[in-house]
Amino acid sequence: MLRKEQNDLLTQTGPGTPMGQLFRSYWIPALLAEELAENDCAPVRVKLLSERLLAFRDTEGRYGLIDEFCAHRGVSLWFGRNEECGLRCAYHGWKYDVTGQCIEMPSEPEKYGFAKKIKLKSYPLIEGGGVLWTYMGPAGKQPPLPEWEFSTVPPSRTSTTKRLQESNWLQAMEGGIDSSHVSFLHRSDLNTDPLFRGAKGNQYNLTDMRPVFEVVESPGGLYIGARRNAEDGKYYWRITQWVMPSFTMIPPRGDHSVHGHFWIPIDDENCWAWSYDYHPTRPLTDAELAAIRAGKGIHVKYVPGTYRAFANKDNDYLMDRAAQKAGRTFSGVAGFAMQDASLQESMGPIVDRTKENLASTDNGIIMARHRLLRAVKALVEKGTTPPGVDPVHQKVRSAAVILPPDQPFTEGAREALIACPAVAPASV
Ligand code: FES
Ligand SMILES: [Fe+2]
Repeated sequence: MLRKEQNDLLTQTGPGTPMGQLFRSYWIPALLAEELAENDCAPVRVKLLSERLLAFRDTEGRYGLIDEFCAHRGVSLWFGRNEECGLRCAYHGWKYDVTGQCIEMPSEPEKYGFAKKIKLKSYPLIEGGGVLWTYMGPAGKQPPLPEWEFSTVPPSRTSTTKRLQESNWLQAMEGGIDSSHVSFLHRSDLNTDPLFRGAKGNQYNLTDMRPVFEVVESPGGLYIGARRNAEDGKYYWRITQWVMPSFTMIPPRGDHSVHGHFWIPIDDENCWAWSYDYHPTRPLTDAELAAIRAGKGIHVKYVPGTYRAFANKDNDYLMDRAAQKAGRTFSGVAGFAMQDASLQESMGPIVDRTKENLASTDNGIIMARHRLLRAVKALVEKGTTPPGVDPVHQKVRSAAVILPPDQPFTEGAREALIACPAVAPASV
């Protein structure tokens, strides 16, 4: 349970808010590289942290993320012409480069040099792992480039999608660190989904419904260990990584690709669920890539031409009561992603955390909130760089391991929790 002020603080990320300042300390995913597929292609509207922006790629292939609105009289530059190394406003022809600098003002006499004095707000935009990353904080505090393993392995080993989620970022992220729901909500999919089925670990998930959680602080966030019974008195441990502010990595299953999410606020009532699948030591197979494109695993099928899921709140997520009754799905909604999203969106756009009754399986969520609150306070009051900004904090892995009963997972899985390029994930 949180007090109202705490809930407001964690869920509001617009300009000038404390949590907004925290998010503006990191490189965050802004667009898929496929959205700006070629030089001089159509610009794309981007709303992030409640700021309305426009992304474009100029004639030389440079990426820009600038204020959506023209400095002249405020029309949307989305209508603009992307030509000859700049975006030209469709109203009176003012033209901007990727840094937001006005470079031409054809409606004004050149001798005034007025264009030089006009610059739109802009943020850097760089490509890594098929994702365009931005940093929206003060220019002097720009951190080193992101080094998440999924975005630095060779392109053949990684694939990322994104999906609109119609809820605040925090309730979405909290679903990613709540590994007890897997045994219920997702139980029927573990043995059938092509990106999950066949792993021995699935059986421990399905037979032991009362995992014991052990949550330990990591340099960048938390290790969230969930312990279930295995054979001969041993334990099956699933260790999720949470790195501040909103990166999660789900423990692997068998030799499947490893996956996880970023939850990035669009505004306070919507977020992007970024979903990556990668394998550190081998290319993704054609079958895996086809499954990702078909919306399997943690991905979704889209409303064509959008990043909104085809099963969404306007069609009750294609609820199938017969499948629910027969146990083909636990909730009646198909697929991991929309099983999660349907329930998280059902909480309302911003869940009222003053009314919760948290239980022992919510320890990861409780500790993540406290860590966020602490980091926000230190940042706002003392300017302390928050955990997760340092690329060392980003080189992590989730793990699934069988350990003897007397061995803590922080010892038994110590090396498995660090990303090491030549080593395959620790998985069961
Ligand atoms: S409003 Fe853009 S040039 Fe006039
Ligand atoms: Fe889930």
